[in-house]
Parts: sequence; C-alpha cells; structure tokens
Amino acid sequence: MQLDDLIGLREVDKEAWRALEESIIYYKGSPVGTVAAYDLSQEALNYDQCFIRDFVSAGIIFLMKDRTEIVRNFLEVTLKLQPKEQELDAYKPAKGMIPASFKVASDGSGGEYLQADFGEHAIARVTPVDSCLWWVILLRAYVAAEGDYSLAYRAEFQEGVRLIMELCLANRFDMYPTLLVPDGACMIDRRMGIYGHPLEIQSLFYTALRAARELLICRGNEDIVAAIDSRLPLLRAHIRKHYWIDIKRLNAIYRFKGEEYGETAVNQFNIYVDSLPYYELDKWLPKKGGYLAGNVGPSQLDIRFFTLGNLMAIISELTTEKQSQAIMVLIEERWEDLVADMPMKICFPALEGEEYRLITGCDPKNIPWSYHNGGNWPVLLWMLAAAAVKTNRISLAERAIEIAESRIQEDEWAEYYDGKKGRLIGRQARLYQTWTISGFLLAKELIKNPSKLPLVSFEAFPGEQSSRACEFEIDSFDQ
Ligand code: GLC
Repeated sequence: MQLDDLIGLREVDKEAWRALEESIIYYKGSPVGTVAAYDLSQEALNYDQCFIRDFVSAGIIFLMKDRTEIVRNFLEVTLKLQPKEQELDAYKPAKGMIPASFKVASDGSGGEYLQADFGEHAIARVTPVDSCLWWVILLRAYVAAEGDYSLAYRAEFQEGVRLIMELCLANRFDMYPTLLVPDGACMIDRRMGIYGHPLEIQSLFYTALRAARELLICRGNEDIVAAIDSRLPLLRAHIRKHYWIDIKRLNAIYRFKGEEYGETAVNQFNIYVDSLPYYELDKWLPKKGGYLAGNVGPSQLDIRFFTLGNLMAIISELTTEKQSQAIMVLIEERWEDLVADMPMKICFPALEGEEYRLITGCDPKNIPWSYHNGGNWPVLLWMLAAAAVKTNRISLAERAIEIAESRIQEDEWAEYYDGKKGRLIGRQARLYQTWTISGFLLAKELIKNPSKLPLVSFEAFPGEQSSRACEFEIDSFDQ
C-alpha cells in the first residue's frame, strides 16, 4: 500500500497502514521485516526485533497489497539465518531451525549484520518450534500470491524446506504422529502447561506439512515427500479422533474405564475421568458445538480451548467440515467467553488458584485472565476472519471486527487485554504492537476479498476420504 492509496480509507485503516509502515525494519537499505512493537513509551527488551510468528500477518497483508518485495526479502534473510550444519555444542540451535526473532546490528565499522535469537536470549530460554512452521506457511503464501514457484524452487529454498521437514520428521522416542515439544514453544512462549503435544503446534505442523508438500520438488526429495505423505493422514486422524470434544465424545469419555492394556483399549491414553471438570464442560458445551482439546498425552486431556490451534485447524482443513462448523458454533454460542470486548481470548478458561501456581510457576505476568493465561489478543482476529470465510460464517467475523474497530485505535493498538471480558488493556501490554495492527488489516481484507483466502488456507487433501466418510469414521471411534 503506497501512501496515495490511503485516500478514501477510513481513519482507523489509514492510521493502521501508517503505523504498519513505521514498523518496517530495513537492512542494507531494503525492507526485511517489521518490529514486534513500535512503542517508544517503554523499554524495548526484544520488541524492537522482528519475530517470525509476528511477521506472518504483516507478510500476508503485504502480499495481498502487492508489496511482495518485503516478504521475499524476509524469506531470504531468515533463510540465511537457518543453521545448515549440526553443531556439536548442544546449546547451539539445531540444523534446520528458524529463529524466534532477529534484529539488524551494527558491526562497528559502518556495516550491518543480522543477529538471530533462537531462544538463547529469550526470557526462560524457550525454543521457538513454531518459527520454522510459520516460515514454510509464509513461503507457500508468497508462492500462491505470486502464482510463481521460482523462489521456492531455488536450490537454497529447497534445502531450507527440506531441513525443516527433516527436523520435524526426525525419529524420536515418541510414539504418536504429533510433534513432541517443550512448554512455551509457540505464541504462548512462557510456562503454561503446554508441553507435550499442544494443539497450536500440531495445527501449525499439519499446515506446514501441507505447505511443504506443495513446495518441494519431488526429484531428489523422494524420501521426505514419502515421509510427509505417510505422516499427514496419521496426524489428521489422530487429531480428529483424540483431540475432539463435543457432547457425544464427552459422554464417551465420562464412561471410560481406566487401566486398559493392549490393542483393544478404548481409553487409549488412560484418561482418568475425575481429572476433567465434567459439570463445567457439560454446561459450557453447546449442543451442536465442539472443539479440539489443548493437549493429549499419557493420562492427560487438557480441556482448555486454545484459539490459535482451533482456528488454524479449520483454515488448513485439519478438522472435518462438520468439526469446523461445530467450532464456529461454539465461538458463536460462547461469544461472551471467547470474544467479548476484544477478539479474542488466547485460551479459555484461565488457570486459577493452585493450578495457576503449579502450572505457570507463579508467573506474575500470567495471573488468571491476563496475558497468555486467558487474555484477549487482537492478532487472533485475522485467524477468526479466515476461519469464518472458510466455513461461510462471515457475519461472525464482521461482528468481531466491529468490536475491535470500536476501540483498537483509541487503545493505541495494544498487544493484549486482561480480564474475563477483555476490557482492560493488558497490564504490561505494548502499544503499537505490529501484529495487532496487521492482524486487524488482514481480517478486514479477508472479509472484503474472500477470494484471497487460499493464500493461507488449504482444501481437503487430495485422496482424503470425503468429509462424510471421515465423520462416519469419527462417530464410530466413539462406539
Ligand atoms: C510475546 C508473545 C509472543 C510474541 C512476542 C513478540 O513474547 O508471547 O508470542 O511473538 O511477544 O510480540
């Protein structure tokens, strides 16, 4: 968007474009990314860096507005930061990783270089597993916007995608098709009890596998392509079956027996019935609604609703058509819990009391209904809009956009909101947070031009059974 193009736009959109423009980082004279927040009122910490996950919404809106150069530059420079060899030093990032963030540093003699952070500087030294997944997703969006594979087919890009896939598909001790990660390995980059197989990572993993499958040239990559092809259906079936919660499934789980051994076990993860707040859930779940659980593992079913994972599952068709519709029904019927005064909650409900203390490690930033622990994050608006377009529930996104629009500019594009209804600007929220700005613009653009959705969305996987057949299969899981 050039400044001339701002003529005729509403004030809030003009201001958003201006702020987005100001957030751009230049390297050797070329635009390569955006800072996390352009907030001069607070100490920057690492908010003056370009985060890979934060840049995605900016990247997509730039692609939609023919500002493809910045996205290409971003992809090129971040690819150069990816380690291509395995270091012996275990504190060094693994081969194939993409950093959490990077910044332009001065070499002391007038030159510039890019300094990456793979989590070795980040608070709590969290590993950014989602970065490499978002990177592949953005590369595929670039290819889709340009209608041209030439960038992705360049040898260094093929190598980059391949290394990411090798890292994700490596042999592990784990026995599931999902990806095993430590706590805080994604947007929620603090301890929040999401170690193991958190939904956010699984949805992004699935989306990135689909993207990589489109981008990799098969010749020379036969082994990786075969590995992706065998992983995709297993991962999809695993999530659709074991993560799904609706009233029917809840009934089945409620009557689970424990301690089952062997192949015929119905309660495969040995979920202890008393670990779930049945009476809360039975009240909360709308009759026709449902959602994917936050995490599944040994004797663990995390029933918190995590927004990013659920919305990305819809966008990438990780969920069946029926499940996607049920998630949208849940959002509509539980609007006051999930959207309320600022779209939308990062997760619901918050961890409180003893659970909060034990699971977050008494994190003062993550007190109940704050920040990652049940705060509201405007960046999630674009994913809600994309999921709404995908499921043909556009009016839901319009409603959410209207809510955001009524205060987002006045609140100076806050990073997140606190409180059960999201009425309070987050206690430690940055202002002029770039993904709040770009997420808002992107949500509006997706609603205005739904034909742009394929930049980020996927159709049912070729060869996948029709949705009906899958639903039959899922129903039969419950028997
Ligand atoms: C916080 C968020 C993280 C984001 C970063 C920069 O750490 O939890 O998801 O990438 O800020 O905005």
